[in-house]
Amino acid sequence: MAAPIFILLPLALLFITATSQGQKAISLTDTLTPTSKSSWLSPSGVFAFGFYQRGNGYYVGVFLPRTSNKTAVWTYGRDSSSLPSNSTLRFDGGGRLVLQSAQAQDTYVATPNDTTVTASASMLDSGNFVLYNSDQKVIWQSFDTPTDTILGGQSLPASKELHSSASVTDPSTGLFLAIMQLDGVLALYPKGTPFTGEYGYWDSKTPNNGPNVTLHLEDDGFLYLLKPQGVYLANFTSQGLPKEDMIYLARIDPDGIFRLYSYDITRNDDWSVKWDVPTDRCSPKGLCGLNGFCVNVGQDYECQCLPGFVSVEDGNRTAGCERNFTAESCKNPTVSNNMQPVPNTTWEDDTYSALTSLTKDECLEACRQDCNCEAVAYNVSQSCYKWKLPLRFGRRVPDGNSNPQLYVKVGDTRSG
Ligand SMILES: *[C@@H]1O[C@H](CO)[C@@H](O)[C@H](O)[C@H]1NC(C)=O
Ligand SMILES: *[C@@H]1O[C@H](CO)[C@@H](O)[C@H](O)[C@H]1NC(C)=O
Ligand SMILES: *[C@@H]1O[C@H](CO)[C@@H](O)[C@H](O)[C@H]1NC(C)=O
Ligand SMILES: *[C@@H]1O[C@H](CO)[C@@H](O)[C@H](O)[C@H]1NC(C)=O
Ligand SMILES: *[C@@H]1O[C@H](CO)[C@@H](O)[C@H](O)[C@H]1NC(C)=O
Ligand SMILES: *[C@@H]1O[C@H](CO)[C@@H](O)[C@H](O)[C@H]1NC(C)=O
Ligand SMILES: *[C@@H]1O[C@H](CO)[C@@H](O)[C@H](O)[C@H]1NC(C)=O
Ligand SMILES: *[C@@H]1O[C@H](CO)[C@@H](O)[C@H](O)[C@H]1NC(C)=O
Ligand SMILES: *[C@@H]1O[C@H](CO)[C@@H](O)[C@H](O)[C@H]1NC(C)=O
Repeated sequence: MAAPIFILLPLALLFITATSQGQKAISLTDTLTPTSKSSWLSPSGVFAFGFYQRGNGYYVGVFLPRTSNKTAVWTYGRDSSSLPSNSTLRFDGGGRLVLQSAQAQDTYVATPNDTTVTASASMLDSGNFVLYNSDQKVIWQSFDTPTDTILGGQSLPASKELHSSASVTDPSTGLFLAIMQLDGVLALYPKGTPFTGEYGYWDSKTPNNGPNVTLHLEDDGFLYLLKPQGVYLANFTSQGLPKEDMIYLARIDPDGIFRLYSYDITRNDDWSVKWDVPTDRCSPKGLCGLNGFCVNVGQDYECQCLPGFVSVEDGNRTAGCERNFTAESCKNPTVSNNMQPVPNTTWEDDTYSALTSLTKDECLEACRQDCNCEAVAYNVSQSCYKWKLPLRFGRRVPDGNSNPQLYVKVGDTRSG
């Protein structure tokens, strides 16, 4: 009767010692590789730092080891190619965390901020991977350089950005970003566009609030913008969601939507969306790639190509569309160009020529005769706008009559 108690007691004590500290030190002589010991766990086991697998390769980062997809919340060097299985992570003499791979030169995953040397490292239960000096001062932390995600207890300071991943299986930089702007606005943009209202597809509507506004996420799922002196500028969610056994993360997803998720760590893959912007799935500009346009389908979306265009890459909507006849057809008198309507769509305003006071037929003819013209938009005030390819940021709009109608040039394949 006494024997089972005798065995259980030391185990329970060990467990309490580890969790009550909220951290356990990682030995600086420890080494990680993808195929043997691949990560260091946080005390609760919910977070891990080390190698996680995507496809045939590996990435270094912080991830949720118990989720079936090994959801990553931070990734080092996301735009380098994935790592081979014979890569290693180890600390060097100065306490820098070095990634060694046969494919490339050594790189530093974590380098202490100042001249002090790393005394210890820890994967915390918050999801923050930290290096300490001998005074227990944090000298490096993964929370300082978020990729696409912030976790409870983490913030996005002014001028910092989160960049979406290319897809759930590819952590490299994708199409969209969230930026905490220096005017106090949290805004979402397609990557590579100017940070202006014309290109943004959602913002917090909090302009003129100075350069020091920060986006915060608390460990109870409270997501908000904070001004200096602790002034609440905007509350996106409310305080007091359950904290026990819950993880909250805010992420800009590959589809351009910024979502706050909760994750119940006691159940497998129990994720739920607590807040998301924008709610229109077609709002993220460029979701369907060049020459493609987004169409809402219930709560979801689909991508369509302009008439006469086909998908560049089957099954990859963001790859966009390309025309399947060559531009030389334009100069070939045996090929007649037709102008095909693309009803109820809107595109980036990128016309190269505008003509006024034309009838619709005159507008279409003006494009047929012009080898530079690939599409025209004709509007109710008889304005005719000429466009070149590629067209981007296309989407279907509900009320087609308030927008100029687009016509795109298609080759007559019978004579081509
Ligand atoms: C590491 O693996 C790559 C291919 O995965 C191989 O080409 C290389 O020789 C290996 N290097 C070492 C040191 O084992
Ligand atoms: C490291 O330095 C950067 C830039 O100076 C700063 O933003 C960050 O807070 C520092 N991190 C730590 C852990 O001191
Ligand atoms: C913003 O923060 C910086 C650095 O802390 C400070 O120098 C500056 O005065 C602040 N500006 C405002 C308007 O609060
Ligand atoms: C935002 O939340 C904070 C903290 O709960 C609260 O003090 C503040 O009044 C809220 N602001 C708004 C506009 O609801
Ligand atoms: C895991 O990834 C697959 C795609 O690879 C996705 O369809 C699925 O929803 C993901 N599961 C979770 C729980 O995120
Ligand atoms: C889809 O196409 C885009 C743009 O060409 C590319 O960056 C991305 O890697 C592709 N995704 C997949 C899953 O092949
Ligand atoms: C272009 O695509 C259309 C529709 O997919 C097809 O009917 C036509 O034959 C294609 N033309 C050429 C020149 O490939
Ligand atoms: C049509 O074009 C005119 C001239 O540029 C412009 O003022 C007007 O707003 C346009 N109308 C629509 C419905 O787009
Ligand atoms: C375009 O809009 C008009 C009027 O808003 C509507 O009657 C028509 O069905 C729409 N067509 C498509 C293809 O969405």
